[in-house]
Amino acid sequence: MFSNILLGITGSIAAYKSADLVRNLTKQGFTVRVVMTHAATKFITPLTLQTLSNQPVYIDLFATEMEHINLARWADIILIAPITADFITKLTYGHADDLLSTICLATTAPIAIAPAMNQQMWNSAITQENCQKLRQRNIKILGPATGSQACGEIGAGRMLEPLELIQFLQNLVLTQPLQGKQVLVTAGPTREDIDPVRFISNRSSGRMGYAVANAAANKGASVILVSGPTALTTEVPTISVYSAKDMLEVVMANISNTDVFISVAAVADYRPVQQTKHKLKKDSAQLQLLLERTEDILTNVTNLSKPPFTVGFAAETTDLDDYARKKLATKKLDMIAANLVGIDGSGFDSINNKLKVFWNDGNLELPHCSKTELANKLLDVIIQRFSAKNTL
Ligand code: CTP
Repeated sequence: MFSNILLGITGSIAAYKSADLVRNLTKQGFTVRVVMTHAATKFITPLTLQTLSNQPVYIDLFATEMEHINLARWADIILIAPITADFITKLTYGHADDLLSTICLATTAPIAIAPAMNQQMWNSAITQENCQKLRQRNIKILGPATGSQACGEIGAGRMLEPLELIQFLQNLVLTQPLQGKQVLVTAGPTREDIDPVRFISNRSSGRMGYAVANAAANKGASVILVSGPTALTTEVPTISVYSAKDMLEVVMANISNTDVFISVAAVADYRPVQQTKHKLKKDSAQLQLLLERTEDILTNVTNLSKPPFTVGFAAETTDLDDYARKKLATKKLDMIAANLVGIDGSGFDSINNKLKVFWNDGNLELPHCSKTELANKLLDVIIQRFSAKNTL
């Protein structure tokens, strides 16, 4: 799940510790690819790191076409250890004049840095100011430790020990299993206009979809929420849409980098064939509306040549298992989360819910609880099935 570590090494004497770091990370089951600056090669040889990581070591920006993009996409996390004062400045200002800085600019993976430098350089106003800016961009700064330095001075500026850096990465794996993954979630109802003042919609409040998006973000994923009209707010980056057609467009525009797609939205299945330009008048005893099917968003996604891990939702009033299994198969889903609506306070527009989750060769019941708790439990099942599929 969270296994690809891109280790950046820059030109500091602490680079000698990187050999131990690579050896231990590899022993823990991580795949490590090393990217060195030219200055780093003065302190430790690429051959040492290549031998310990059992992977090629990358140095030149122009050695292979598009290498910076491939590596930026490959990484689940970028750890730069050691990072010099100079490289901190480059990272702060978005330079892209060598392979490592270019990768940092091109990646969506989280970045952590382990500074190593003379204590005066670390304490200088400019380094501290740069680090503050990096923290604001969610770049994690690990250390530095205080103690005697290679230059003979004593103070803060020693790179953390490899075991401390490994501990940080292991914690991240435990608490943030979706670190480095892109998750796209849809939520809420859609509205299908009849005339300028009336529409067809449904009772979805969006609570379940918002809870799922928040749970994925709390587990470390980069989340985009595509939301129909709701009264809810969230910290997760959200694209608001109105109709099923809008939702399809936004989903398809964002699907290419998505690892997991969770379609919680109660998308309208039908829309009026015509939306009248002016308000309809009640000048007849009866009114017939002709409806047409909307596009099925899930099917559009699972028909892609490389679909993401795709999870659907099903709200049923009877025969939950049968309908859910049918939708799992016909929509070619990896998983479906189904619930009975309108029974014991579950389902649409309620605070609590319970779900039954189905996949090809299994199912699991998630008990009645708040939608926030339920979303967390659902994410745990999604992570298990997603990892199982990706390690097959
Ligand atoms: N869905 C979709 N696009 C649509 C309609 C629904 O992607 N146009 C998704 C929903 O987000 C949900 C799942 O499909 O994940 C629900 O399946 P669906 O067959 O549409 O369920 P119902 O609307 O309840 O349909 P039915 O009347 O067939 O039970």
